[in-house]
Amino acid sequence: MNILLIAGGWSSERDVSLSGAVGIKSALQRLGHQVTFFDPKISLNGLTKAVKNQDFAFINLHGCPGEDGLIQAMLEALKCPYQGSNPAGSFLALNKAAAKELFRHANLPTADWELLSTKPQKNWRPTFEYPVFIKSNTGGSSLELAKINNETELANSLDTLLNSPKEFIVEPNIEGVEITCGILDETPLPPILIRPKIANSDFFDYKSKYTKGGAEEICPAPISKELTEEIQALTLKAHKLLGLSDYSRADFILDKNEKLWLLEVNTLPGMTPTSLIPQEAAAIGLDYDALVSKLIDLGLR
Ligand code: DAL
Ligand code: MG
Repeated sequence: MNILLIAGGWSSERDVSLSGAVGIKSALQRLGHQVTFFDPKISLNGLTKAVKNQDFAFINLHGCPGEDGLIQAMLEALKCPYQGSNPAGSFLALNKAAAKELFRHANLPTADWELLSTKPQKNWRPTFEYPVFIKSNTGGSSLELAKINNETELANSLDTLLNSPKEFIVEPNIEGVEITCGILDETPLPPILIRPKIANSDFFDYKSKYTKGGAEEICPAPISKELTEEIQALTLKAHKLLGLSDYSRADFILDKNEKLWLLEVNTLPGMTPTSLIPQEAAAIGLDYDALVSKLIDLGLR
């Protein structure tokens, strides 16, 4: 097939997207496809021309715009099939505050939050006790995210907040470990337990995510069968609730009392060969190329 590989874009996760695209391009070529690369940052309107003669678009954009449904809507209009969720599901999942409203409504456990949709005043203080997380409402990869431990750190971050056009959400810190679980074709994958290994990284930050050996990622997670099943059930429930398709990956914190807290659902999860979804797929016998091939099949359905 002729496949348009869409990656790059202009979100803060551009580099993550481009590095995933390297692995996907090699896989697509090994699978015998003709690959054309398209970067929306260079010309978004160019997409109209770029999809001519293409049988499929493989999207590997992260963050906003890209994971938010914009490109998906353009591909729908151009009648070009692609993998993953439709524009509405993509938009809902990427908007953390909107997704959390739905999680709460459906009794999916998610931490309290505060949405800062207008710039906070200088005297603004979080409603939660320190430490708190302040993160872009539509960001990913722990970019545009800060863990704020005290008033001094808040004062430093407020400057950034005051100067950013973005919406932010504030959440209380939940002590625990991160667990992540993918869905592939309506079937939950084995969860992964993550322990950051970088000095000074007390959560799964950008450095521990993208430095080789920056985190210990244990797949399947060394947890009880009951807990595994609970994570998988919550992940599938969130996937369906948001109206997602083909695949997604939900991120949780497992707290010290073994209670799960759903952080977010990613509709275009990281796809470098060592990323989380590829590791989870490998655990059920789907190697990287087989996963890429499966995603194309799902997108063509
Ligand atoms: N946003 C990154 C790519 C992820 O969730 O995998
Ligand atoms: Mg994410």
